[in-house]
Amino acid sequence: MKVLKSIGMLIFAGFSLNLQAEEAAKAVEMTVYRSPTCGCCEIWLDHVKESGIKIKDVVSDDMQAIKAKLGLPDKLASCHTAVIDGYVIEGHVPAADIQRLLQTKPKVLGIAAPGMPMGSPGMEVGNKKDEYEVKSFDKDGHFEVFASHGGS
Ligand code: CU
Ligand code: CU
Repeated sequence: MKVLKSIGMLIFAGFSLNLQAEEAAKAVEMTVYRSPTCGCCEIWLDHVKESGIKIKDVVSDDMQAIKAKLGLPDKLASCHTAVIDGYVIEGHVPAADIQRLLQTKPKVLGIAAPGMPMGSPGMEVGNKKDEYEVKSFDKDGHFEVFASHGGS
């Protein structure tokens, strides 16, 4: 009986954690800046929307100015740039990484998937999957590995 009760508690704790994560994602809207001529950004947008994040879509002809203003290190640049809950999200970052960022709230400026990694969300070309890293960065241009993907 005692065992059953603690299993029940565990399931309940897991359930409410999930709910919290979903609520956190729903509460904040992500502003996405993208160029009008780039198709991969739109596919990435759909991927993020599917995870439950609300999007404010902003089309811009001067992505470089936006990236510079937000403090993105040049080395980490990709196509689209987004802002959610005060964090900068650069490039084809998987939605799960964004969710983890919002839950763990590390002291960073944002996270980036530099370049255009094949097989990342929005960059699917057949079964080709590049190995790529999502990096977190701070305002001084330091960065660290936040997540590793692909390479299968
Ligand atoms: Cu892209
Ligand atoms: Cu794009």
